[in-house]
Amino acid sequence: MRKPVIAGNWKMYKTPKESLSFLERFLPLIKDHTRDEIVLFPTMSSLGYVLDATQNTNVRAGAQTMHWLNEGPYTGQTSPTMLASIHCTHVLLGHSERRIYAHETDDMVNWKLKAALGHALTPVVCVGETLDKRQSGLTDAVLRWQVACALNGIEPAGSEPLIIAYEPVWAIGTGSTATPAQVQDAHRMIRDEVAARLGPDRANETRILYGGSVKPENASTLMAQPDIDGALVGGASLDAETFAQIVKYTSQP
Ligand code: 13P
Repeated sequence: MRKPVIAGNWKMYKTPKESLSFLERFLPLIKDHTRDEIVLFPTMSSLGYVLDATQNTNVRAGAQTMHWLNEGPYTGQTSPTMLASIHCTHVLLGHSERRIYAHETDDMVNWKLKAALGHALTPVVCVGETLDKRQSGLTDAVLRWQVACALNGIEPAGSEPLIIAYEPVWAIGTGSTATPAQVQDAHRMIRDEVAARLGPDRANETRILYGGSVKPENASTLMAQPDIDGALVGGASLDAETFAQIVKYTSQP
C-alpha cells in the first residue's frame, strides 16, 4: 500500500510571520491525521521557521528547489547538504515554473534527483505537458521523456522513497483541473515508464501525485483513482482551512 501524500506548494507566497500564522491555524485542524503524509513547501526564507514549528508534528517541510552541488560560487542557490543540515525532508524538483522561468532542463532535474537521493531528501519530481503538446497528441511522449530523463542513471535497486508529481501546465493556476480519467491515464503511463527504468517493485512503491487546480471539491474524486497517490496543491494550500479540507478528503467520493 502506498501512503498518500498531500503537499502544499506555497510558491512565492507568505513571509515567515504569515507562514507561522498559517501553522497556528492548520496544525490543530489536522493534528490526529495519519492516513496521508502531509508536506509543505514554503519559500526558502520561511523554510527554517516552518521546520522548527512543525517539529514533533505530523507535518513535514521541504524546499521548492535546490542546486545539485554541495557548495560553490553559485549566487542565490541552496545546496542539498544545506537542506539536509536543517533537517529538511523533501524537495520539489523540476516544477514547470522552474523549467519555464529559471530555464531548468531535463538534465538539471536528473542531476538534482541524484543529489536529493544521495542526501536522503525525498524528491518530488514534477513532470507535465503544455496545452500545445496535449492538443498535438504528444502528452504520452512528453511525460515518458521527462520521466526517462529524470531517472537516467538512477540505481534500480535503490530503496529511497521517490515521488513524482504530474502537473499538466495548462491546469496550473487556471481553475481548469484535468479530469480524473485524464490524470489516471497519465499516472498509469508514468508508472509504466518508472517500471521500465527501475523495475516493477520500485514503480509500485513510487507515489504519483496530481497537481493543477486541486480544491476541496475535486480532491476526493481524484484520490479515488487507483494510480493517484496524492496531490500537490498550489493556490488552495495557502489557506489553512481549505488545505485542511483537502488533507481530509473522503476516500469514497
Ligand atoms: P494550483 O493548485 O494553484 O493550480 O498550482 C498547482 C501547482 O503548481 C502545485 O505545484
